[in-house]
Amino acid sequence: MTQQSTVLVLGASRGLGFALAKEWLERGWRVIATVRTPSRELADLDVRFPGSLKIETVDIASAESVRALKSRLTGRQLNVLFINAGIARAIEQSPEVADESDFLDMMLVNAFSPVRAAELLGDLVPAGGTIAIMTSELGSIQNAKGAWQLYSSSKAALNMLMKGYASQHEEERHTLLLVAPGWVRTEMGGSDASLSVEESIPLVVDMVEANRGKPGLRYVDRFNASLPW
Ligand SMILES: NC(=O)c1ccc[n+]([C@@H]2O[C@H](COP(=O)([O-])OP(=O)(O)OC[C@H]3O[C@@H](n4cnc5c(N)ncnc54)[C@H](OP(=O)(O)O)[C@@H]3O)[C@@H](O)[C@H]2O)c1
Repeated sequence: MTQQSTVLVLGASRGLGFALAKEWLERGWRVIATVRTPSRELADLDVRFPGSLKIETVDIASAESVRALKSRLTGRQLNVLFINAGIARAIEQSPEVADESDFLDMMLVNAFSPVRAAELLGDLVPAGGTIAIMTSELGSIQNAKGAWQLYSSSKAALNMLMKGYASQHEEERHTLLLVAPGWVRTEMGGSDASLSVEESIPLVVDMVEANRGKPGLRYVDRFNASLPW
């Protein structure tokens, strides 16, 4: 019998992270899904997939919290580590009017913390495994048109930090993906977004699968097309 593959999804209480956990469970994977506070949706999934879902509590903005998760997972091997957690604040604002703490919170949660989580948890992923982080189409400096400029800046910073990570961890032979899921109707994306969760996430999972065993860093959309940095 082939061994069940395992994915850890950080930030899976709702929205795209929840959908990633659900999609991988439906594909027969073992899923470790993290929340900050209990999630009714995930608890329901636990009933649907007994034994395949493990729910953990983690705040990625806290190094201590991520380290505690690491120690609880000692001995586990992850085929995929997917860091999804993110926030959007002050989306219509520019630096002149925005609350500084909104920008700093986004830089902490969207840029610094995901890469720190990759550093802290990366050795649970064997060579040939994948570390994926949810960025955004808005993180592309080349394509930027000024929308959601503070949030976009945090995703551009995430992309830059992952460039650093990739060059420092080349010998680990991981597939490293910065994932742009499209504009999706979640609490963050809002009701005007162009895609449903079901139109985005299965393609994201297909794309992660298509990149399996291909080491190096790519900034890609759900169709597996490379995006300009
Ligand atoms: N929706 C879009 O159109 C879109 C487009 C491009 C990129 N993205 C990116 O996709 C990811 C998911 O977005 P979404 O639309 O699903 O947003 P969402 O519905 O607001 O969900 C955000 C998720 O991140 C978690 N999270 C936030 N801060 C966290 C922290 N400090 N530690 C751990 N978990 C944390 C939330 O947990 P709680 O329930 O505890 O708050 C929630 O599970 C984000 O990185 C976002 O930037 C979204």
